[in-house]
Amino acid sequence: MEPLRDFSKGEPEIEPVAIPSDPGRGEACLAPGLISRLLPSKTAVISIAPLQSSSFGNSPLTRRIYLDNAATSFPKPPGVMAAMAHYANEIGASPGRGAYAESREAGQLLETCRERLRTLLGGHSSAHVIFTLNASDALNLAIHGLLSPGDHAMTTFMDHNSVLRPLTELKNAGVIEQTRVPCDPNTGLLDLTALGRAIRKNTRLIAVAHASNVTGTLQPIREIGKIAREHGIPFLVDAAQTAGHVPLDVESDNIDCVAVPGHKGLLGPLGTGALYIRPGLETKLRTLRQGGTGSNSELDVQPEFLPDKYEPGSHNAIGLIGLSESLKYILERGVENLWEHDRELTGAMLKVVGRDLPGLTWYGPRKLAQRVGVFCVRLENYEKPQDLSDALETRFGLLTRSGIHCAPLAHQTIGTYDVGGTTRFSFGAFTTIEDVTALGDALEELVRHV
Ligand SMILES: Cc1ncc(COP(=O)(O)O)c(C=O)c1O
Repeated sequence: MEPLRDFSKGEPEIEPVAIPSDPGRGEACLAPGLISRLLPSKTAVISIAPLQSSSFGNSPLTRRIYLDNAATSFPKPPGVMAAMAHYANEIGASPGRGAYAESREAGQLLETCRERLRTLLGGHSSAHVIFTLNASDALNLAIHGLLSPGDHAMTTFMDHNSVLRPLTELKNAGVIEQTRVPCDPNTGLLDLTALGRAIRKNTRLIAVAHASNVTGTLQPIREIGKIAREHGIPFLVDAAQTAGHVPLDVESDNIDCVAVPGHKGLLGPLGTGALYIRPGLETKLRTLRQGGTGSNSELDVQPEFLPDKYEPGSHNAIGLIGLSESLKYILERGVENLWEHDRELTGAMLKVVGRDLPGLTWYGPRKLAQRVGVFCVRLENYEKPQDLSDALETRFGLLTRSGIHCAPLAHQTIGTYDVGGTTRFSFGAFTTIEDVTALGDALEELVRHV
């Protein structure tokens, strides 16, 4: 691990450094806020500084270890900021909305992003990749766009509010019926027999989170997709916690549509996401929003062709160009290798929580093969999960998230709903084994000396 740099004694002089072309891991940290605070006004240089250095929060510590990758990933690969700055400073134009080279170039950059997403998901054509604001926006498009009055939809108790809320909204409005299939309280795993039994004649959607953002439970999506396909029911996967972490292939995983955030495991900026839909689904998927697309301008109806049908309005070009760069990084490093990295960290964390730490309760699968690097714990003497997050931040510089994590039914499943939830640690592409060791040491210390 890089030695920590202590910025507490004043701002250091930052030397402009070249952005590494090698997509290796490690030093790719753009420290939060550092760039704007440290850069001379007009110098377009990127400083590579370790995350563990900051004047954030009340902590006297200079060490900051980011363990909240399930919320959004940090840091981003080095090329991301550079690509966004290049677009902002040198291109600026709106894709598809100008009769000049800069607009065409912006359009081309977005197409590259689309194609990289298609490659990552194993999709059929890049036109079937629809850009959205985040994973929730993609899930809303699929849920509201596919369901009609009288339909029945299914999801699970481990799913996120981004699936639960759109479905409940439709149910409460009397549009649909819904079933939320319970999951195992110890592992969070979905019971496939229970899923099969809950299917009705009018079931028109099965929506499942590939991995839980509470317990890290990986659901058997290939098998669920097989069941859905046997019944001719569209299968929607919420890959918010797996895209970029776990290899996904829409064909072999039997997926009809998959929602991905650009800003979590895909390592892009906030405000980006996508919905991939299998060819043919566009005949069933209605548009939620209509508007200008820069195409078919002579018509006052939404174009029928993809992706314009589902992408009204000007794009978040700067965000998508950043996402394209992070996708390039992911494709070069390889999702299999990122998955291997996640295995290593998760295995190390399983050893940490597997130690006999008195008063520590942790949740989710015990088996490495059944989970990703998202862990939730409760510690006796820290009745409120937020108090544990505060102790971890102020005493150890560890950044975590506490509470219900937008997944109330998942917390009901594991029995932590009524006690205010849990404290969560989540790993990412730039988390190191040393970070996991630091977390283990901190938990040990808190258990032994409250
Ligand atoms: C499982 C799951 N689904 C959906 C979302 C929503 O993602 P976004 O914030 O990109 O809308 C999250 C975010 O935490 C999540 O963990």
